[in-house]
Amino acid sequence: MPPRIARIIVPMDPSPPSTGTVSPAALARVANAIARATRVTVLTGAGVSAASGVPTFRGPDGLWRAHRPEQLATPEAFARDPRLVWEWYEWRRQRIARCRPNRAHEVLAGWSRRLQGFTLVTQNVDGLHELAGTGHTVRFHGSIWELRCAVPCTRGRSPWRDETVPLPRLPPACPHCGGDARPAVVWFGELIDEHVLEASIAAAACDVFLVVGTSAVVYPAAALVPTAAAHGALTVEVNPEATAASSIVDVVLAEAADLVLPQVDALLNAG
Ligand code: APR
Repeated sequence: MPPRIARIIVPMDPSPPSTGTVSPAALARVANAIARATRVTVLTGAGVSAASGVPTFRGPDGLWRAHRPEQLATPEAFARDPRLVWEWYEWRRQRIARCRPNRAHEVLAGWSRRLQGFTLVTQNVDGLHELAGTGHTVRFHGSIWELRCAVPCTRGRSPWRDETVPLPRLPPACPHCGGDARPAVVWFGELIDEHVLEASIAAAACDVFLVVGTSAVVYPAAALVPTAAAHGALTVEVNPEATAASSIVDVVLAEAADLVLPQVDALLNAG
């Protein structure tokens, strides 16, 4: 059983430089490795959904009414002002409801159908991987489309799906006890579900590990990159900016995921 680990953030150097452009040789190396692999794991973050119009957390649109995500996505913030926290989630739900999967989501959905031993571990709560039809997915931080009882009452412990936009009242009520409901997402300082952690650590024992569209500063998700490297996986980053993971991966594809993943996919299909 994996250790019980709470979700935390580890700051990185501000304004990392862009790491350059993508060379055909690097693309070919990644495509060849995927073609030969028996286990491929992809860890995704908010950058995968950027081309769909979902704001990233630490990018230019990351602030909401001058609040940083780390100030709102906590049990303490919810205890202090549940309505404020819900107004942020409601704003994000309304925005995400208008977004559709992009080419990066579509390529990963295709890999989940075609590649044997494929696992997607996503930090994203937006549901766009699901909408694209991606199988074999571990939702590391939960889903913005699921709620659970904040009290918590016994029956409201299990999340329920609610895609109503806009929600008729904030905070929404638990249908079982009438108390406040909360988003069924993992907030900072909360523990990752042990089955989710177990499945993710198991998936990191792979041949090729891609880390796509994440700043790689939020743990324990970010720890999957060194875990995969320790297992001997070829580690690959897809991100237009340098991140906390850039210096430890084998290959950096420094370009947007919606541009790079289709190129890797085209090489795979051609081979
Ligand atoms: N393609 C690939 N990467 C991109 C793109 C793109 N088109 N656009 C932006 N990025 C990259 C940015 O360079 C950045 O490194 O996506 C990353 C987004 O980083 P964050 O905003 O920090 O998002 P993420 O890493 O997913 O955050 C982790 O923190 O606040 C929490 O719950 C949140 O699960 C999330 C966690």
